[in-house]
Amino acid sequence: MSGFAPAWLDLRESVDHRSRNRKLERALAKHFDGWRPVTVVDLGCGTGSNLRATSPLLGPEQQWTLVDHDQALLKAAAQRLAAWADGADRQGGTLALFKGAKRINVEFRRADLAGDLEGALGPNANLVTASALFDLASPEFIARLAAAVAARKSAFYTVLTYDGDQRWTPEHEADAALVAAFNAHQRRDKGFGAAAGPDAPDALSEAFAAAGYAVQEGDSAWRLGAGDEALISALAAGFADAVQETSQVDAQTVLAWRSSPRTGAVVGHSDTLALGLNG
Ligand SMILES: C[S@@+](CC[C@H](N)C(=O)[O-])C[C@H]1O[C@@H](n2cnc3c(N)ncnc32)[C@H](O)[C@@H]1O
Repeated sequence: MSGFAPAWLDLRESVDHRSRNRKLERALAKHFDGWRPVTVVDLGCGTGSNLRATSPLLGPEQQWTLVDHDQALLKAAAQRLAAWADGADRQGGTLALFKGAKRINVEFRRADLAGDLEGALGPNANLVTASALFDLASPEFIARLAAAVAARKSAFYTVLTYDGDQRWTPEHEADAALVAAFNAHQRRDKGFGAAAGPDAPDALSEAFAAAGYAVQEGDSAWRLGAGDEALISALAAGFADAVQETSQVDAQTVLAWRSSPRTGAVVGHSDTLALGLNG
């Protein structure tokens, strides 16, 4: 178990998809226009949300490898992808998906990114991608990843990296103290060494620029309001739990914050597209 419950990933999926930066989506689609097939590795795939959102931007023949260290999530990904596709066929270790005019072959790889990055990436891929992953990773891991992606001459596209901005509606007098504590929690070790947390978008841009890539960034903040009540409530509870673990805010204040009504939130995220300077 990784601590990311399928129910939480399900709850955030539609908001993740609508929040993705459209300009970067268009730039990715343009870069891969005419490529057939396109090979893709998705790091920290969870239940396959990134494939569901990114595959429409790529060509009619795609070969995806979905990587996670959590076997239960890999299993859930196979189930959800088969249900999402118009048709699905298991052929040995490969799941063949038919979606509109696209054929998407999917393989599943259980690997720990921190311990075996080379094995997780495999020999090569046209595109290395991830969603909601790199705020968990350390700056050192991100630099190592950029070097490994560059060695493979792959393109790189990651979405929904938390950037530290968090605003709640209605405002509460303790918001600033809680956000500071939450961001300190985000920097704790999540299996990769001390995490970049809110600095992850900058760490990604710097690491890929240093590895020789042209890097584009785009805003992908969650803007939550009417219709997002279930996510707002789960997010607020998880946020307060994390704050409490830091002991940086007294328990009474956290309790008061938890019991205040909440109708909206903005959670800052950033998307990153890194393309090789030579195509
Ligand atoms: C926030 S979830 C995002 C899941 C999915 N990409 C999405 O957007 O819904 C982070 C994912 O990274 C995976 N993960 C975290 N640390 C990992 C590691 N060291 N190796 C492989 N996967 C990891 C978790 O199991 C989880 O599926």
